[in-house]
Amino acid sequence: MTVAHPPPNHEGTTRERRQFEIIASIARTDAGLMIPPEKAPMVFARITKRIRRLGLADPEEYCALVLGSEGATERRQLISALTTNVTGFLRERHHFDFLRQNILPDLTTRAKRGERIRIWSAGCSSGPEPYSTAMVLLDALPDALDCDIRILATDIDAQVLEVAQAGCYGIGQLAPLPDGYRKRFFQAASGSGNRGDRFEVAPKLRTLIRFKELNLLAPWPMRGTFDLIFCRNVVIYFDQDTQMDLWSRFSGACKTGGHLFLGHSERLPQAFHVAFRPVATTTYLRTPATPPQHPTCKES
Ligand SMILES: C[S@@+](CC[C@H](N)C(=O)[O-])C[C@H]1O[C@@H](n2cnc3c(N)ncnc32)[C@H](O)[C@@H]1O
Repeated sequence: MTVAHPPPNHEGTTRERRQFEIIASIARTDAGLMIPPEKAPMVFARITKRIRRLGLADPEEYCALVLGSEGATERRQLISALTTNVTGFLRERHHFDFLRQNILPDLTTRAKRGERIRIWSAGCSSGPEPYSTAMVLLDALPDALDCDIRILATDIDAQVLEVAQAGCYGIGQLAPLPDGYRKRFFQAASGSGNRGDRFEVAPKLRTLIRFKELNLLAPWPMRGTFDLIFCRNVVIYFDQDTQMDLWSRFSGACKTGGHLFLGHSERLPQAFHVAFRPVATTTYLRTPATPPQHPTCKES
């Protein structure tokens, strides 16, 4: 089957511009993702794969499908195709250094006293972020499994969550990890296809983590508050209103004395610094202060 090629540049024809607008508006309303017109070739390239897989003729048919009453399932696939899932073990290492040096001494003491410790990796992609957190934690507190500690790892994209849950990675992906971590927290992957270059996470890492599908724009079902929230390299793709809404919701979801970690090109606006005091690069401490209320804040 021949599938219409993506347009050579973002100017495209009127029809292509309309198709792009349909896809971009679904990305915005369903997942908060802002896709600028210059990304049109990327969008068409990604939906072309879906068009082929579904046996459709062209982007026009694809747009009709996602707009139609039967389109809900494909809209989820579309969001999965449009999200950027780049991640890595110990990515933005300074956060894990800060965690080890400045947070874990107190957090592990509280955990040993029997306190409930909750950590959230919001937008966890294929898993290296929550697994890295679990490794640093287990390094500082080898008995973590005997304490009331859980890491919740969520993402909108069911496909990356499957990879995260499988916890199986190529040797190249483990390169940022110190040798000691590789030896202690990974084992050769089982399965006849493995040529010695695939490794799976140790059961104790899995035990600490729960993976769940969650759209950050939707209501959050979690009841308690978190000691640590990692939401790194996620909100950068959201519009300003969605970001402001999320800052308010994170203030409600983070314990006083807890920390919020953002990605390298994300910053909390100044108005939020009363509630989330900057304490290190893209690292914020939740104070007892009430955060500003954003007019678009929805109930969570
Ligand atoms: C670039 S990855 C970041 C992964 C990890 N936090 C890191 O920094 O290595 C961004 C992740 O955010 C997820 N994401 C995008 N929009 C989302 C939404 N509305 N709700 C939840 N997750 C979302 C994507 O599926 C993707 O896996």
